[in-house]
Amino acid sequence: MPSDEAIKASAASGWKTWSTKKKAAILGITLFILALAIGLGVGLGLGLNNDNDNGSSGGGGGSGGDNTTTWQPPVGSTWQIVLSYALNDTRPAVDVYDIDLFENPASTIDELHAQSRRVICYFSAGTYEDWREDASSFPQEDIGADLPDWEGESWVDITSEAIRDIMTARLDLAREKGCDGVDPDNVDGYDNDNGLGLSEEDTVDYVRFLAREARDRGLSIGLKNAGAVIDRVIGDMQWSVNEQCAEYHECDVYAAFVRANKPVFHLEYPKGDKVNDEVEVTGRRKTEACDFGESDKFSTLIKNMDLDNWYQTC
Ligand SMILES: *[C@@H]1O[C@H](CO)[C@@H](O)[C@H](O)[C@H]1NC(C)=O
Ligand SMILES: *[C@@H]1O[C@H](CO)[C@@H](O)[C@H](O)[C@H]1NC(C)=O
Repeated sequence: MPSDEAIKASAASGWKTWSTKKKAAILGITLFILALAIGLGVGLGLGLNNDNDNGSSGGGGGSGGDNTTTWQPPVGSTWQIVLSYALNDTRPAVDVYDIDLFENPASTIDELHAQSRRVICYFSAGTYEDWREDASSFPQEDIGADLPDWEGESWVDITSEAIRDIMTARLDLAREKGCDGVDPDNVDGYDNDNGLGLSEEDTVDYVRFLAREARDRGLSIGLKNAGAVIDRVIGDMQWSVNEQCAEYHECDVYAAFVRANKPVFHLEYPKGDKVNDEVEVTGRRKTEACDFGESDKFSTLIKNMDLDNWYQTC
């Protein structure tokens, strides 16, 4: 609402020549419009919050509160993910590459950009990995239970300031290397024996923190797995990265993303965790990976669990 000073200031110019009655009428109309605008603003604000709190309501989750300058990939984007070594094969003609933040030099990201690909940089945001170059920065007291299937890796306390500082430094690295977005893994400690008492609420708070820090650096961000918190964080996310929703019959949970016009980069590992070969998956194993409700909108890849170069589309 304009202050008396502002009204006086404008009265000194155009308003000066108008009759008092006309001024009063215009002031009344202005106040009415202002009141309407404020009411509408509050209503819209509530609507957006509802949308963010309830991803399954669908619709325009893509815009509310998001930084419009950050990259939003469309539903159905094609992709490739290679995490077991530095990327050495950029031939797959897909829209998006998800590659390891530490293993890959900026020149690889530049090369992908020159081929009109977008690049998502992967790092583990919820675990300590003893081989990473910043491993010595993790305080011992913030390290929890080991991940049984992944040697040298343990859950970390995602509520710790020290851990969060490490992750913002990783986001700085992602920006320096020219990544378009980040894929922070292992944010679902609540769903695992983490040894630190981590809860869903801790995940929600941590994911929102990562989203703010990513956005401040012009980086897009996605939610890895963590189906239980989708409705609380989907407004802050530009995509989902999901593993094995078809195998576990939970793709309907992740479909909240495609309904909000955000892609689900979906992985299935029909060969299991022992076999990493170049053999194509066929028959029932392929059907089970590829066919489920709304599967036509998912960005599904069949991969070896070690996430090497080999991939197959549906
Ligand atoms: C990529 O690197 C891996 C690991 O060093 C190697 O096994 C593979 O043959 C390489 N692939 C290509 C296409 O160079
Ligand atoms: C969006 O991100 C860009 C790049 O970091 C930044 O310059 C800009 O201020 C951000 N805008 C908003 C509204 O957060």
